[in-house]
Amino acid sequence: MLILNKKDLEELLPMEEVLDVLAMGFREVKEGRCVVPVRFHLTVEEYQGQFLFMPAFLPGLKQSGTKIVSVFPKNTSKGKPTIYATYLLSDPTTGELLAIIEGATLTGIRTGGASGLATRYLARKNAKVLGIIGTGFQSFFQVRAIQAVRPIEEVRAYDFDQKRLEDFCQRMSPFIKVYPATNPSEAVRRSDILVTSTTSKTPVFSGKDLKPGAHINAIGAFRPDMREADDETILRAMIVVDTYEGCLSEAGDLLIPMSEGKLKKEAIHGDLGDLVTGRKKGRRSDEEITFFKSVGFAMEDVVTAHRAYEKAIREGKGQRIEIY
Ligand SMILES: NC(=O)c1ccc[n+]([C@@H]2O[C@H](COP(=O)([O-])OP(=O)(O)OC[C@H]3O[C@@H](n4cnc5c(N)ncnc54)[C@H](O)[C@@H]3O)[C@@H](O)[C@H]2O)c1
Repeated sequence: MLILNKKDLEELLPMEEVLDVLAMGFREVKEGRCVVPVRFHLTVEEYQGQFLFMPAFLPGLKQSGTKIVSVFPKNTSKGKPTIYATYLLSDPTTGELLAIIEGATLTGIRTGGASGLATRYLARKNAKVLGIIGTGFQSFFQVRAIQAVRPIEEVRAYDFDQKRLEDFCQRMSPFIKVYPATNPSEAVRRSDILVTSTTSKTPVFSGKDLKPGAHINAIGAFRPDMREADDETILRAMIVVDTYEGCLSEAGDLLIPMSEGKLKKEAIHGDLGDLVTGRKKGRRSDEEITFFKSVGFAMEDVVTAHRAYEKAIREGKGQRIEIY
């Protein structure tokens, strides 16, 4: 049995490879070879915490595993992170546990990968300026993934937490030039591609500021009452979702305008599986605004975890332990 930590994952999972395995996973989903039950929540009232269990099984690829995520907001007062995540990769032919994998980095990498894949089909080919609103944990992976598919020359970043914004600029400096913005408009107006990766409940930018031809990856807003994009953006854009099932039950960015009768389900152009299988085309013109909404999907974890495991075995990486 193998243990893979954050550093192992960073070495084992270059973005180009993550995009390939995600594309393979989304094809399996479209072909009906993917079993992902609704995620199970376990509430720990005493400590105001929650565990989420996210299993996935891909029979065609013979991959299975479960992500366990814990969200304990009171941890900050104990000097501990709010979120821990662990991935348990199992052999679906025997049930044997193959690997225990650090799950937060895995999530960052696969969520970046999904945005990268959407960007490949939806952003203009010559997109050079990337805007990002919300410079927390996910933002680093988002930038790295988009850099893998478009010739990004600079990043315009905004976060209302100055410290987070400064940390991001510093962390990104070996990879790309980042200009901090003093408000969202300043970042959005210049951007060919925009990422919103916040925990906001209300829109974080004005759709009026979008350049013609802009592409947006909106990855925050994972509950029906949360949103990052305003009506202007949603009604102007060609919309693609990671999965219909996830977005139509969780994505406030779409569900709020739908509940107000402004947006119809039929207005959603397609999902990522439609794009990677060629069933639907991506961008149709240079002026079109495109909008990718993701809430995450357990298939993305299992294909990414499995790739890390296979490579670790081949390259002798990770720590081996006997538990049986
Ligand atoms: N789509 C997916 O697959 C997926 C996967 C993982 C996480 N997420 C979601 O992505 C979001 C970001 O996750 P994270 O781990 O980076 O969180 P985080 O808390 O580390 O970072 C969020 C950042 O957003 C900033 N922010 C919040 N509201 C803002 C606003 N109105 N304007 C500007 N900045 C604002 C915060 O200051 C913070 O720096 C969360 O909602 C998370 O649930 C989505």
